[in-house]
Amino acid sequence: MKREIRVGLCGCGVIGEGLVTALQQHADVISARAGAPIRLAAVADKDPARLDIVRAQDPSIALLDDAFEIPKRDDVDIVVELIGGVEVADRLVRAALDAKKHVVTANKALLAERGAALFELAEANGCDLYFEAAVAGAIPVIRVIRESLASDHIRSVRGIINGTSNYILSSMANDGAAFGDALKAAQEAGFAEADPTLDITGGDASHKLALIAGLAFGARVLPSEIPTEGIEQVDPRDIQYARNFGYAIRPLAVAERLQDGALDLRVHPALVPQSDPLAHVDGALNAVAIQGAMVGPSFLSGLGAGAAPTATSVAGDIIDIARNSLAGAPMRRWYLPTEGAQEIQAIADLSSRYYLRFSVQDESGVLAALSGALGDSGISIELMVQDVDDGDGGTATIAMLTHHAHEGDVRAALDAIDDTHLTTASTHLIRIVE
Ligand code: HSE
Repeated sequence: MKREIRVGLCGCGVIGEGLVTALQQHADVISARAGAPIRLAAVADKDPARLDIVRAQDPSIALLDDAFEIPKRDDVDIVVELIGGVEVADRLVRAALDAKKHVVTANKALLAERGAALFELAEANGCDLYFEAAVAGAIPVIRVIRESLASDHIRSVRGIINGTSNYILSSMANDGAAFGDALKAAQEAGFAEADPTLDITGGDASHKLALIAGLAFGARVLPSEIPTEGIEQVDPRDIQYARNFGYAIRPLAVAERLQDGALDLRVHPALVPQSDPLAHVDGALNAVAIQGAMVGPSFLSGLGAGAAPTATSVAGDIIDIARNSLAGAPMRRWYLPTEGAQEIQAIADLSSRYYLRFSVQDESGVLAALSGALGDSGISIELMVQDVDDGDGGTATIAMLTHHAHEGDVRAALDAIDDTHLTTASTHLIRIVE
């Protein structure tokens, strides 16, 4: 039997605890597939209660309250970073790589913000830096783009890559749940980030999309460069109108190479036709649809969040690194965008179809004025419905789908309309992705 590979775990929250369980319960299969015993040598967490849970599982594991002690240990070959956040995690991963330890991380914020420098450091130190769990939990999207499709030109990647947002929109659509109740349930189920604002404002998905764009297009993209909108503005009425029009509302991330070479990158809720498989990805499920020049369409779906699914991806990385180490061949992977910064299309230049919901006075001439204002900006209406609101306020709701238009034109027309007496509240826009 070859030598054992020793793992040091930094951070024993939801995913960390899942990893401890996976390494215990699947020890036989993990060691057999790695080609050597994999042993969890040390776990660090500030919270003694979490360490007590580890102690109860295996009293031989060294327990520490300082994650920075893990990279210093001689009995650790692979450091697993699951503390999250950027600053402290950055220092920790650097400390591990400087100590010539391989690293596995699930930290998409860290890699999206600092990945370029960290991958350089890993290479300089002859270390592996793996991150399958950082994007879409258990779905092997990193491996598929980096390895299986390495020979292809990727045209587009579209996906649902935030389980919390998808869970909330699904609960609102399927059970009529209130936004806050659905968010609370997602937090209790362990899908949500420590700060769920990152989930519902699209920040988490933009971190993941930056990593996808790096792998798929060789682009060095910072999350702040990606047009990003969260799901907070989605109203139950939008879900209902979308359904009646034949669409579902999903939290989407889009990365596409345009004809002129620029990249269309964006994160936002979108109307997706019921005929698209993404419309049927429900609850905390994630899905990623990849279109390649040679491979054509492919579709991956699975659990994108939660302890066991995410820990499975972390453990898979540990096995891969163990095999590299045993073969004396670390750094077999390419990680880095090679083409540096690329042009990202401004959202105003996007050509899309749109769902619009207007709150208007229910009086003669309003509809004609609305459609006239849109028509003057070259925006053509495809489908429209009007409902007179309950009560005696004399208001109505008009929901419509447009034909393709440039977003800058649509926004300008809506601003002009909302500046008149025609609407009683700001008009709501959701892009259609098909
Ligand atoms: N908070 C994330 C989600 C989990 O809801 O998808 C993993 O990134």
